[in-house]
Amino acid sequence: MRVEGKEYRSIWIHPNNKNVVRIINQAVLPFRFEIKDLTTPEDIIDAIKNMLVRGAPLIGAAGALGIYLAVVKLHPGNHAMATLRTVANNLKESRPTAVNLSFVIDQIMNKIPENTTLEELKELTYRLACERIEMELEFSRKIGEHGLDIIKEINKKKGGKPVNILTHCNAGWLACIDYGTATSPIYMAHDNGINVHVWVDETRPRNQGSKLTAWELGQHGVPYTIIADNAGGHLMQHGMVDLVIVGSDRTTRKGDVANKIGTYLKALAAHDNNIPFYVALPSSSFDFTITDGINEIPIEKRSSREITHIEGIKDDNIIEIEIVPGNAKAVNYGFDVTPAKYVTGIITERGICNADEVSITEMFSDIINK
Ligand code: MRU
Repeated sequence: MRVEGKEYRSIWIHPNNKNVVRIINQAVLPFRFEIKDLTTPEDIIDAIKNMLVRGAPLIGAAGALGIYLAVVKLHPGNHAMATLRTVANNLKESRPTAVNLSFVIDQIMNKIPENTTLEELKELTYRLACERIEMELEFSRKIGEHGLDIIKEINKKKGGKPVNILTHCNAGWLACIDYGTATSPIYMAHDNGINVHVWVDETRPRNQGSKLTAWELGQHGVPYTIIADNAGGHLMQHGMVDLVIVGSDRTTRKGDVANKIGTYLKALAAHDNNIPFYVALPSSSFDFTITDGINEIPIEKRSSREITHIEGIKDDNIIEIEIVPGNAKAVNYGFDVTPAKYVTGIITERGICNADEVSITEMFSDIINK
């Protein structure tokens, strides 16, 4: 997508040096646009943990590149595979909720043959990481095409008046490779001349909505308004929301959806107000091995400092200030689970399915039965 009119992806390999991974540093957006070079698996782990890269599909791709960089740094010898396995585990543990990370890493590790030279290993992991990046990009693009039909339909019903879409967190191109998941249909609608307006939940505590989604939409020229996290219900009661689209970090084969904390409350409000609540996700964000999202999806707990402090910009310096009584206790759950019964439909790269086991199994039987 475009930044100041120039096309970017959220992650890529340095065009002049295959051993350098480049990312947009999301930890300093929207205050600075900074490209950062990562050269070791530890750099990747650090970038994932500290959310320089974040969002389910992107951390999956970053994990794949982490394996590749680990191979680049391997020394020939007996311990090469053991070292690689340790890196794979450390990568997988860097963020627990988004299934994409462990899915992609396990997939790559399972493709590594027992007896192989370092040079072959380097070529293989490079190819697999690049394939993952291209695949995720294509998934996002297709999600956009399928989701566009939903927006078109609402726009038609409204006689061409703007379609008001509420989204939570950042399920945009920054969280993916390009296009996004929840935002992909929105960008496509906008590019097709359909009037859309986005209500952007600020998404405390890290404010991925007001910092990242707002920045992205603004760069692409999509009209948006930032709202406090608690405002969505009120807007829905007053007919100001036509549609909710969110992303997902892990969705079960029965259609329970884990996404950024606060998503569940939006689903409840949408349900109470008969507003369609769609979840956009690629197949890499499904965890087909589990059914019960509430009890089976691991929910990341992050530092309480993200709640007790807030970050902003003053005199061109990024600063952090405390916003609670000193020594106040805080707990920071990163995600919640929206039960399938509140999900109108799941927008995937293969089309839109119902959030139930029959529809999901029908759409992804080849992956489930592999
Ligand atoms: O903690 P984050 O910022 O990584 O959480 C991201 C989200 O919850 C997104 O909505 C989700 O990953 C879907 S991304 C396309």
